Amino acid sequence: MIASKHRLRVAVLLSGSGTNLQAMIDAAGRGTLAGSVVVVASDRPDAQGLGRARNAGIPAHMVDYRSYMRLEVGDDLGRGLPVDIEELDRSQRILKNPDPRRRLEQLHRLVLAEQELIRVLDAYQPDCICLAGFMRLVSPYLIGHYNRQGSWKIINIHPALLPAFPGQHGYRDTFAYGCKWGGITIHFVDEGEDSGPVIAQAVYPIWPDDDLEAVNRRGLRMEHEMYVQVINWLAADHIRVEGTESGRLRTVNTDPDYRGIIESWIAKAFED
Ligand code: GAR
Repeated sequence: MIASKHRLRVAVLLSGSGTNLQAMIDAAGRGTLAGSVVVVASDRPDAQGLGRARNAGIPAHMVDYRSYMRLEVGDDLGRGLPVDIEELDRSQRILKNPDPRRRLEQLHRLVLAEQELIRVLDAYQPDCICLAGFMRLVSPYLIGHYNRQGSWKIINIHPALLPAFPGQHGYRDTFAYGCKWGGITIHFVDEGEDSGPVIAQAVYPIWPDDDLEAVNRRGLRMEHEMYVQVINWLAADHIRVEGTESGRLRTVNTDPDYRGIIESWIAKAFED
């Protein structure tokens, strides 16, 4: 049983199979998660993770991003939104389309989708939002909604050792590059692509006879353990964000067991 001052109300966002969600559900069932998953939301109706949530009795919602992304914006650009779209464009660092009108239209649609997502999530009053294979951009509107007064509420797991291989294909890109070590990063979400303060990282070996599937399997096992641990660290207030001389933010982990935990993650990656 985990003894923690707080128990977190966790919201999980996903687009696919949801094995990280399953790891959280299983840990909660064993009493080793300092919190519970109170809601799951997906941008895709066919996400397997939605079924995992329902099987565990967790409310599961779908926000149909695809239809939002097809909306004709026309003269409505920026109208009726809860944020100033141009200001949003200045603060975001992901959309790269050189045509400002196209960028603003894309942001407009994204904000509409996020408005619905926020309505869904807020009904469950989550303490943190865990992205677990959520393959959609997160705009500064959504980030600003949750990160109030210097708090960091949105977390992402990325299947590579950031800042290497950001984007949608961390395992594939690590493997294709011929890396001898792969990595997993859990980080707070900021306005860039996979660029927020790193909370936890670990590495696993890639052996000469591994194929991409083996790499995926080894990495995912590590992800499952890491995500649960990070939620527990957050619940126990062990993660502090601080500035550095370079201007970049970094986290400091105050868990006295920190070193042993990292060692055990990496040792397990040598077991198969
Ligand atoms: C995980 O490997 C996660 O790191 C990755 O998607 C997978 C989801 O698996 N996320 C990203 O690539 C984010 N850029 P799951 O649905 O089985 O938890």
